[in-house]
Parts: sequence; structure tokens; C-alpha cells
Amino acid sequence: LARGDLPRDLAGRRVVVSAGGTREALDPVRFLGNRSSGLQGYALARTAAARGARVTLVAANVALPDPAGIGVVAVESAEDMRKAVLEAAQGPGGAADAVVMAAAVADFRPAGYRNSKIKKEPGAGPAPIALVQNPDILAELAARPRGGQVVVGFAAETDDVLANGRAKLARKGCDLLVVNRVGADLTFGRPDNEAVILAADGAAPTEVPRGAKEALADVVWDLVAARLAPPGG
Ligand code: CTP
Ligand code: CA
Repeated sequence: LARGDLPRDLAGRRVVVSAGGTREALDPVRFLGNRSSGLQGYALARTAAARGARVTLVAANVALPDPAGIGVVAVESAEDMRKAVLEAAQGPGGAADAVVMAAAVADFRPAGYRNSKIKKEPGAGPAPIALVQNPDILAELAARPRGGQVVVGFAAETDDVLANGRAKLARKGCDLLVVNRVGADLTFGRPDNEAVILAADGAAPTEVPRGAKEALADVVWDLVAARLAPPGG
């Protein structure tokens, strides 16, 4: 894709993007994980950089090369991601202008980490795995005092995509929610995506037809840019 013709409307802005899927360790060799490839988050990060932003990319378990000119923070678990995202959103040099949570954060983690590999016990069935809920990073980002920082979530839905998306937007308290329909063959690891983007400010939903993940990223940044406070203001 030729990215040279993009607007430089994010010049002077600092943004944080999360990508990939967290892994929740059970023991030194096993984890609970998900199918996120990180492609959409990486497309968002590259697109923001191409439009002039300084980008921090918090990446969980992706098999993708670091994009040129973008600071990548590698994390594994939801807890790691929470720390890295909150720190980057706050920033040493002032709060980021926007945070986009494209990562698939595991909702639950094993209640206890076992320092030794779990073994089969002769004659006994497998022990159940107790889970506890992970913190909701997006909801936490949205609920903090955040000045004009624009907070964007992604919602993966398999059913009742719009109704679930609206309810999720309200529940999370973010400014924009990018809702995509997921299924084993619909989104994960594919170069293309389609979505409807819901806005908390009452703007009409934005339908993004199936296309490159870069194209969806551009629409997301258009909607973010329209909601940023004037530079220096
Ligand atoms: N998210 C997060 N922290 C979590 C779970 C999700 O920050 N512990 C973020 C994701 O990065 C995404 C958004 O919340 O931007 C929505 O994720 P999703 O899994 O669709 O929403 P959930 O609230 O976890 O609801 P569900 O029960 O449908 O999984
Ligand atoms: Ca979830």
C-alpha cells in the first residue's frame, strides 16, 4: 500500500495502540490464549505513524516485525498489558492524545500459577482449572480523569453485533467502539476486516465495508482526529 498520500493530521500527537492477544500462564509451559494475530493493531500503529503521530505500540504475543519508527513494548499477560498501557497513556511527557485498544485481552486467567509443570496423575482425571477475572483495561482507561484523551475500544462479537456493540460502548465508557463480527474464518489472521464504528457522542454509526485492515485503521484515525482538542489547547 502506498501510504505517502495520507494527511499529516496526527503530526504533534502521541497515541497508544495495543495489539495481539494476551496469554495467561498456567504453568511454565502452558497458557490460555486467543486467536488474535495483531494485524489490525499493527495496521493502526503504522497508519497513525504515517499520519504523523508518535506511536507507542503495546504488543502481546504477535509474530510480526517491529514497524519502523514505532516504539514497541512487548507484553504477555493482561496484567502486563494493563501496566504498559496505563503507563504509556499517562506518559512521561504528558498524557497521550488517544489510546486504541485493539488487543484481545483475556477476560480470565488461571486463579493460581503453578511453578512446576502440571503432571498427569496415574488413574486420576484432570483437575479443573479455576479462573479469576482480569481487570478491564479499556473501562479503566475510560473512567480515569483523562482531559481530552480519546479512548477507542474494539468489540469482537459473534451474534447480535449491533445490539451487543451499543451495550458494550455504554458499559465501557469509551468514545468510539469498533465492532467487528468474528468467527474462526472471518477476521483472525486475515489481512482484511469489516466493522461498524459506534460513537458515544451520538454521531451516526460509521459502516466500514470489508477491505484491508489499513483501510479500517484510516477510518478509525479519521474519527479520532475529528474528536481531538485543537493542538496545544
Ligand atoms: N478489553 C480490556 N480489558 C479486558 C477485556 C477487554 O481492555 N479485560 C478491551 C479490549 O481490548 C477491547 C474491548 O475491551 O478493546 C472489548 O473487548 P471484548 O472482549 O469485546 O469485551 P468484553 O467487555 O470483554 O466483553 P465480552 O464478554 O463480550 O468478551
Ligand atoms: Ca472479552
